[in-house]
Amino acid sequence: MKETNSWNPNEYSKHTAFVSQLAMPVVDLLDPKKGEKVLDLGCGDGTLALEIQSKGADVIGVDLSKEMVEVAKSKGIKAFVASVTNLPFESEFDAIFSNAVLHWVKDANLAVQNIAKSLKGGGRFVAEFGGKGNMQSVVEAMEEVFKMHPEFGEFNNPWYFPSVNEYKKLLEEFGFKVEYIELIDRPTPMSILAKWLDIFANGICQNLTNKQFEVFKQEVEEIAKSKIYSNRGWILDYVRLRVRATKL
Ligand SMILES: C[S@@+](CC[C@H](N)C(=O)[O-])C[C@H]1O[C@@H](n2cnc3c(N)ncnc32)[C@H](O)[C@@H]1O
Repeated sequence: MKETNSWNPNEYSKHTAFVSQLAMPVVDLLDPKKGEKVLDLGCGDGTLALEIQSKGADVIGVDLSKEMVEVAKSKGIKAFVASVTNLPFESEFDAIFSNAVLHWVKDANLAVQNIAKSLKGGGRFVAEFGGKGNMQSVVEAMEEVFKMHPEFGEFNNPWYFPSVNEYKKLLEEFGFKVEYIELIDRPTPMSILAKWLDIFANGICQNLTNKQFEVFKQEVEEIAKSKIYSNRGWILDYVRLRVRATKL
């Protein structure tokens, strides 16, 4: 499936800085060492690549978004445009790191195949992304709104949110030993749900007119409200799959 979401680095860093801020435990799990060659898969604006580089590792970032790659480069990261499903590397990296990316890649087999191919033998893969049940309230609300509006077309869910067993099996099929894998509930405050939809659902709504997109956002908010809105504001039902595995 073609990757359709589009990424605006300014909007992304203004409204969803929590994505990289909450990922520090994943950088700790990677435990980058001085001189190691590390690939940041889906590096986005380079915030985490910079953190890994500050530990002395030699970091390369790749991302599907040209705009994100430009921002990462401006921060001093060696970065270029490439997809997780088509990486030009062969046994090159001591470690591959990825945060908040792999749920955007529906062809998980191809992603893991490319990750395995790019790592040196004994190299490690450390990642976090959406796991089973992630944002379920919002995904269900989006589906419902599409059903209520046949003129919006078909709802194409762009996400892959695997369970622990499913992802462990997949990694093992491609020659990994899984040392740690866990689903983590991470309720995440968000000031305005519509902003989240602007950033993360623009691909889903790419065929909608501006007016339809406004209706979509308003109705998704109305439906999701009973589940994830309270006097504390919006608390999004994020569930992350965190993993560390070694290529045998
Ligand atoms: C939520 S952002 C996360 C960025 C960064 N890793 C962070 O934690 O801040 C998701 C990123 O995944 C990238 N992405 C989505 N699909 C991709 C693919 N198939 N290959 C490479 N990057 C992809 C997007 O362009 C975007 O920059």
